[in-house]
Amino acid sequence: MPGVVIVGAQWGDEGKGKVVDLLAKRATTIVRFQGGNNAGHTIVRDGEEFKFHLIPSGILYAEKTCVIGNGVVVDPRVLLGEIDDLKRAGVSVSNLRLSANAHLIMPYHVLLDSAGETKLGKLSIGTTRRGIGPCYADKALRLGIRVQDLLDEKILRTKIRAALEPKQQALRELSVQRRKQLKEAGEEAKASEPAAGVPDPRLDLHAMVEEHVSFGHRLEPHIADTARLCWDALDREETVIFEGAQATLLDLDHGTYPFVTSSNPIAGAATVGAGIGPKDIDEVWGIAKAYATRVGAGPFPTELFDDVGERMLQQGHEYGTTTGRPRRCGWMDLVALRYAVRINGLDALAITKLDVLSGIGPLRVAVRYRSKEGAVLDTFPYHQSILHSATPEYEELPGFDLELTSCRSAEDLPREARDYLGFIAEFVGVPVRLVGVGPGREQAVWLEG
Ligand code: GDP
Ligand code: IMO
Ligand code: MG
Repeated sequence: MPGVVIVGAQWGDEGKGKVVDLLAKRATTIVRFQGGNNAGHTIVRDGEEFKFHLIPSGILYAEKTCVIGNGVVVDPRVLLGEIDDLKRAGVSVSNLRLSANAHLIMPYHVLLDSAGETKLGKLSIGTTRRGIGPCYADKALRLGIRVQDLLDEKILRTKIRAALEPKQQALRELSVQRRKQLKEAGEEAKASEPAAGVPDPRLDLHAMVEEHVSFGHRLEPHIADTARLCWDALDREETVIFEGAQATLLDLDHGTYPFVTSSNPIAGAATVGAGIGPKDIDEVWGIAKAYATRVGAGPFPTELFDDVGERMLQQGHEYGTTTGRPRRCGWMDLVALRYAVRINGLDALAITKLDVLSGIGPLRVAVRYRSKEGAVLDTFPYHQSILHSATPEYEELPGFDLELTSCRSAEDLPREARDYLGFIAEFVGVPVRLVGVGPGREQAVWLEG
């Protein structure tokens, strides 16, 4: 089974980093195919914690090739920071490859993301403010700067100039509006942008070009034709893992729009984001937590606002890897998970963080929604207003008190935990093949399909 896609089956932070690290053992190549440094993937190896935003989660194996595919949006400053951190930790990055076709997150994308969110106020999406949306927008507008552009100063200058002009104008307008708002609220001192008429040094063309040329020099040894690299590995029948960031319900087309990210985290997008054909995908794994979390705004039918939700937050250390924000917590939503199974074509599930549910019982899983008119909804509603007002109906299952962190086989798990996993697998029609019982690499239980 050479081509394996791994995707988030909920709202992100399911533990994809850990699962990719575990499955990477049998692969030669690990490829990130979308998203950017909005992602935060954590791996704990021998008690040491690594957090990656851009670098694929296979990097801790020195001999494996790690690829940042064309579908990823790359903030070069962040990537170089991650490379430096890894080198300092004694991890080799000599097998890291970066697609020449990947788009770059430029300083103006970050400023626009932030200014756009601030302007939306109460209606904001709660983005990570890393410039993801504006960068993908420029890609679609054909105003994007790509990794390969870093290698030719003349082309780089021409492209940045063309992209920069409309941004300066948009940012000026947003800044004027913001200053007006702050003035009305008597909080003018809070303005972070230069006053009207004063040029913003962060948007200086000359400095930006110079800085990016130097990024290009540093990244050059990693830049490659990464689609070809994937084809070659697949043709040699090696296992290639395609690592998704974010998750199904944050998908731009199939998630809870507009409360989504600006790329397609579903499995099908691995083809576009890595440059392979659909037939190159042999297996698809979905990663889900044993409960559910969400960062940022948007519908979350099973969200809890009580002590149980608070316990999930505390016991699960549910604070964003990228922004540090507390994650919203709730029960496992099997209506949404069944949707993720179908849309990704999942062959297997990894259920992570089962250990967090110890002592939280009885357990509940959402098995249907009810609309505000009283209609039963067995499938995930496509209509935004229906989803926003849908209430979940639960099946209650017995909980377990035993600490799971030292369980290593199915027999070690209490019967209630096995039944909980069995209920999930049966309901969504996909086997649970891997169970997480702690953040460590070794804290995993493999189950027979
Ligand atoms: P990702 O974005 O999907 O890679 O997930 P994150 O790394 O953002 O968040 C998952 C968090 O849960 C990280 O802190 C992991 O170290 C941790 N984690 C992963 N699997 C498990 C597990 O099975 N049990 C516990 N307790 N923590 C886990
Ligand atoms: P990983 O890969 C959880 C959320 C943000 C926000 C929305 C849009 O670690 O699972 P964006 O910055 O992408 O424009 O924000 O998407 N979001 C994530 N939530 N995990 C992530 O990544 C996320 N990446 C983006 O919180 O609601
Ligand atoms: Mg994360």
